[in-house]
Amino acid sequence: MFMFMKDYMCLVLVFTWFATTTNGATTISPAGRSYSSSVTINNKLYVFGGDPFGVIGTSQTLYLDISLIGTSNPWYLLTNIPARVSAANAVFDGNKTVFLIDHSIVYDYDISINQWHQTGANGIIPISRTQATAVIDNNGKIWYFGGSNATTNIYFNDINYFNTITYSWSLGSTVNAPTARFDMVSIFLSNGLILYIGGVDANLNYIDMAQIPIYDTIKGSWSSMNASGDIIQGRELFTAVLAPDGNIIIYGGQNIKNSPIPVMANLNTNTSPYKWTSESLSPHAPQYITGHVAALNGSHMIIALGAISKNGTFDLSQNNAFVNNLNYDIYALNLQTNVWSVNSSTAVTPTSTTTPYIIGAIVGIIISVVVVIVCVLGFIIYRRYEKRKKDKEIILIPGSRNDEIIQKPGSRDEAIPTPGSDALRQI
Ligand SMILES: *[C@@H]1O[C@H](CO)[C@@H](O)[C@H](O)[C@H]1NC(C)=O
Ligand SMILES: *[C@@H]1O[C@H](CO)[C@@H](O)[C@H](O)[C@H]1NC(C)=O
Ligand SMILES: *[C@@H]1O[C@H](CO)[C@@H](O)[C@H](O)[C@H]1NC(C)=O
Ligand SMILES: *[C@@H]1O[C@H](CO)[C@@H](O)[C@H](O)[C@H]1NC(C)=O
Ligand SMILES: *[C@@H]1O[C@H](CO)[C@@H](O)[C@H](O)[C@H]1NC(C)=O
Ligand SMILES: *[C@@H]1O[C@H](CO)[C@@H](O)[C@H](O)[C@H]1NC(C)=O
Repeated sequence: MFMFMKDYMCLVLVFTWFATTTNGATTISPAGRSYSSSVTINNKLYVFGGDPFGVIGTSQTLYLDISLIGTSNPWYLLTNIPARVSAANAVFDGNKTVFLIDHSIVYDYDISINQWHQTGANGIIPISRTQATAVIDNNGKIWYFGGSNATTNIYFNDINYFNTITYSWSLGSTVNAPTARFDMVSIFLSNGLILYIGGVDANLNYIDMAQIPIYDTIKGSWSSMNASGDIIQGRELFTAVLAPDGNIIIYGGQNIKNSPIPVMANLNTNTSPYKWTSESLSPHAPQYITGHVAALNGSHMIIALGAISKNGTFDLSQNNAFVNNLNYDIYALNLQTNVWSVNSSTAVTPTSTTTPYIIGAIVGIIISVVVVIVCVLGFIIYRRYEKRKKDKEIILIPGSRNDEIIQKPGSRDEAIPTPGSDALRQI
C-alpha cells in the first residue's frame, strides 16, 4: 500500500509540474513583434510594447523565463502599459522598478506588484522622439540620448537624464556632443562610461561602427573612441549585451544599403583603444535578425522576437517587410562553447567540451522517462488494485497544458493598423 501511495504522489507531482509551467498566468503564442524594449531581471526577459503584426505600438507587457529555454517556453502576459509604445526604452533600477521612456513620457512599472503608472515627471522635459536609447547608471540616473521624430524630420543629439529618485529631467553636456543619430545601441560600463554604437545619422547614412561616442556620467563630458580591429559594417536595430568580462557582443540589425557583415561581433573594452573582433556563426545561429531583443542569463546570450532577412537588408518597396518575416524562434548562445540552440537544447551540436553536459542530459532524460513510466504504471496498478478492492472511482486530473493556455488572438484588434508603417521607421 505504501508503495502505491508513493506512486500516486509521484503522479500528482508530474501533474503539478505541468500545471505550474503556466503558473496560472495568461500566455501568448506566438509573440511576434519588432521594436520592443526589454530588460532582464532574475532570469526573466521582460518585453514592453513593440510593433506586432504590422501595427505601430502595443501596450502589452510580456515575459519569458530564460533560465531554461525549452520547447514549452511560453510568453506570459502581464499588466498592460497605460499606452501603446514602440521603439521606446526600458531600464531597470536594480530594485523593483522598470522605467519605460516613450517619446518624452516616463512610465514606471513595479515588478513586485505588476503595476504600471504614468509619472508626472518635471524638470527640463526632452522633446518628443522615438528610436532613442537609454541606460541607467549606478546612481539611478537614466541617460536618454539621440532619437528621431519622423513627423517633423528632426534628429537629436542631446543627452538628457531622468533622476529616478526625484523623478525630474535634466539636460547633460552639449560640449563635444556627437552628431544626431537614431537606432543605435548604448552600453553602460561599470566605470561610469556610456558607449553609443552604430545607428543612423541625420543624413540617413549608417554610422561607422568604429567611431564610438562616449559619455562620462561621472565627469559629465563627451569623448570619442576610434576602435581598432575588424571592420564591422554599419547597422541599426541590432542588439548589444555586456558580458561580465567586459566584452560587448553585438548581434544582427539591418543596413538597407549594404549587408551588415558580420552578423555577430565582439567589442573588447578592456583594451585601449577598444577592439572589434568579428565572430563566426556556428550551426543553429539565427541568420540576419533585426529589431529583436537580447538578454544574458549568466552563461548564454538569448535572442528573441524581431524580423528575419537573408542578408540583413530589407526590401522596403514591399509593404510590411518586417511583418511577413517575424521571428518566432528563441535562440540561446552558450558563450563558453559558442554553441547555439533553437527553442530547446535538442539542437545542440556535440563537441568535446560539452560532452559531460550531453551525457548528463541523456542520463537526466532517461531517468525522467523511467520515473514517468514507473509513475504511470504504478498509478494504473494502484487504480486497478483500488478499484478491485473498493470499486471506488479515482478522478483523473486533465493535466493538458493546452487547457491552461488562453490563445490571445493577436493584438491586431487592439492596435491601430498603419499601412506601410515599416517604411516610416526605416531609412
Ligand atoms: C541560460 O539559458 C540556457 C539555455 O536555456 C540554459 O541552458 C542555462 O542553464 C541558463 N543559465 C542560467 C545561469 O540560467
Ligand atoms: C527598493 O524599493 C523600496 C520600496 O520602494 C525602498 O524602500 C528601498 O529603499 C529600495 N531599495 C533600494 C536599494 O533602493
Ligand atoms: C514629433 O513631434 C510632434 C510635435 O512635437 C509630436 O506631436 C510627435 O509625437 C512627435 N513624434 C515622435 C515620434 O516623437
Ligand atoms: C581610426 O583609426 C584608423 C587606424 O586604426 C585610422 O586609419 C582612421 O583614420 C581613424 N579614424 C578617425 C576618424 O580617427
Ligand atoms: C539581399 O538579398 C536580397 C534577396 O534576398 C537581394 O535582392 C539583395 O540584393 C541582397 N542585398 C545585398 C546587399 O546583398
Ligand atoms: C520554435 O518555436 C516556435 C514557436 O512555437 C515555432 O514557430 C518554430 O517553428 C520553432 N522553431 C524550431 C526551429 O523548432
